[in-house]
Amino acid sequence: MDYDPWDEVKAIDDTKAGIKGLVDSGIVKIPRIFIRPPHELAEELNMCKSTLQVPVVDLSGIQVEDERKKIVDEIREAAEKWGFFQLINHGIPSSVLEGMIDGTRKFHEQDVEVKKEYYSSDTTREVRYDSNLHVYKAKGKTAYWKDSLFISGLVSGHNEPEEIPPVCRKTSLEYIKHVRKLEDTLLGLLSEALCLKPNHLKATECDKGQTLVCHYYPACPQPELTLGTSKHTDPSFLTILLQDQNGGLQVMCDNQWADVTPIEHGLVVNIGDLLQILSNDKFVSATHRVVANKVAEPRISVACFFFNESSVSPKIFGPIKELISEENPPQYKEFDVSDYLAKYLSRPLGKTGLDLFRL
Ligand code: OGA
Ligand code: NI
Repeated sequence: MDYDPWDEVKAIDDTKAGIKGLVDSGIVKIPRIFIRPPHELAEELNMCKSTLQVPVVDLSGIQVEDERKKIVDEIREAAEKWGFFQLINHGIPSSVLEGMIDGTRKFHEQDVEVKKEYYSSDTTREVRYDSNLHVYKAKGKTAYWKDSLFISGLVSGHNEPEEIPPVCRKTSLEYIKHVRKLEDTLLGLLSEALCLKPNHLKATECDKGQTLVCHYYPACPQPELTLGTSKHTDPSFLTILLQDQNGGLQVMCDNQWADVTPIEHGLVVNIGDLLQILSNDKFVSATHRVVANKVAEPRISVACFFFNESSVSPKIFGPIKELISEENPPQYKEFDVSDYLAKYLSRPLGKTGLDLFRL
């Protein structure tokens, strides 16, 4: 029988009901556009799983000088080796975290007629939801098993809070307020971990914009054939991720996948490509992915990407001067951040943003 993948893409797109809609329709086999190529599936079977765990950093002693030093050392070690760490006692109330997860669930599970209004793959729209079929559409790559709500433009002031969908508006605004504060704390700690003044990273304005991406990974009937999110590094400066207890996030360490096991009321932090560049490769932007959801209920996660989204005035970035010496020459040339983003978006999928300006 003739098979045209575009028919599949169009059929899903036209419903505007997302991957969740596919699952709700009762399918037992996933459409072909979601099936990973045979060589990838074979490779997967031969890969060893790591038993190592991403380091956990307890921020409760942050105000006490000796304990702060220990925290800075732990963060330095994690950022160098893993590019990932989990935070506990980070100060964001558990009710705010639970509210954010719950709001995300409510958005994705609301009446399709209401949700439809937000369905769009137009990346210039600051609030929209999408099924990630664009990876298939633009690059012919396997599509993945999730729906995502994007909320951006809050800092630049384009996006008025009223544009955030009513079902998750209050909880999202509350979470953003707290996560921004935590980001400031982290920038201080990361600056110290690089042996810079505590306000150094903040002063670069690298983190000036934020995009919240609220992911919904519906239960997948054939999870071994597809992925929730394919392997990638984050193009951001820094990412703070809230995940529910269902698991599925994995990070690459020493060429093996390691599970980022959920910690109740914990948060995952990862170094993005831009921070790897600023740190001149001292910190690593690690490859990570999400396996397709094997549990009966949906998995929910919320990524907050910190990224300078200035597209108006030029903003030049490159390795931090204080970190450069004869023994440690710059690994990247300087670039305008808007140029970085444009180049990043047009690169082949799965290629990191790091190679764009590497010397
Ligand atoms: C991302 C990401 C992980 C997750 O959005 O870039 O890696 O657990 N998300 O959803
Ligand atoms: Ni990511």
